Amino acid sequence: MKIGIIIYSQTGHTREVAGLLQEKMAEKGHQVEIEEITISGKTPAQPGQFELTASPDPGNFDAVIFGSPVQAFNLNPVMSAYLDQLPAMQGRETACFITKQLPIKWTGGTQAAGKIKDACKAKGAVVKGAEIIFWAQRKRRDSINQAIERLAGLF
Ligand SMILES: Cc1cc2nc3c(=O)[nH]c(=O)nc-3n(C[C@H](O)[C@H](O)[C@H](O)COP(=O)(O)O)c2cc1C
Repeated sequence: MKIGIIIYSQTGHTREVAGLLQEKMAEKGHQVEIEEITISGKTPAQPGQFELTASPDPGNFDAVIFGSPVQAFNLNPVMSAYLDQLPAMQGRETACFITKQLPIKWTGGTQAAGKIKDACKAKGAVVKGAEIIFWAQRKRRDSINQAIERLAGLF
C-alpha cells in the first residue's frame, strides 16, 4: 500500500514518531512517505495568525495517517486549519496519532484525536484507529513502540 503520514510538528516530537512509524510500516512492505504541513507566521501558531504554506494532498495515497501535537488542551491550530480545507476522501482508510506532554486526562489528547477523526469521517474517509503519545511519561520509548505497532497493524 502507498501510505502517507501527514503531520504538523512544531518542536520535533510528532516528526520523530512519524519517522519511527515510517520505518515500521516500510518493514511490512508498504511504501511510506512523510509529508509535512508548514506555515508562515510565528510559532506556536495562534488560530487565524498564520498561513498554510504546504498542505499535503491525501489523494496521493491509498491510506493516510495524520499526526499532530496538542496545543492548549486542543488540537494544534495548524492541523485544525489543514483539516478545514481537506478534500473529499471517500472510502480512503485513515488513522491518526497525537503527541502531547502530560500523561493526564482532560489535557487535550482525546479532544485532538476526536477532531481529526471527525474531520476524516466528514470527508467520507474510513477511520481505523487513533493513538495518543504522552511525551512526559517515564517509559516513553516503550509506549511509542506500542503505539506504532498498533498503528502499523491497522494496514
Ligand atoms: C504552546 C504549547 C501549548 C501546549 N499545550 C499542551 C497541552 O494543553 N497539553 C499537553 O499535554 N501538551 C501541551 N503541549 C505540549 C505539546 O503538545 C507536546 O510537546 C507535543 O509532543 C509537541 O509536538 P511537536 O514537537 O511535534 O510540536 C503544548 C506545547 C506548546 C508549545
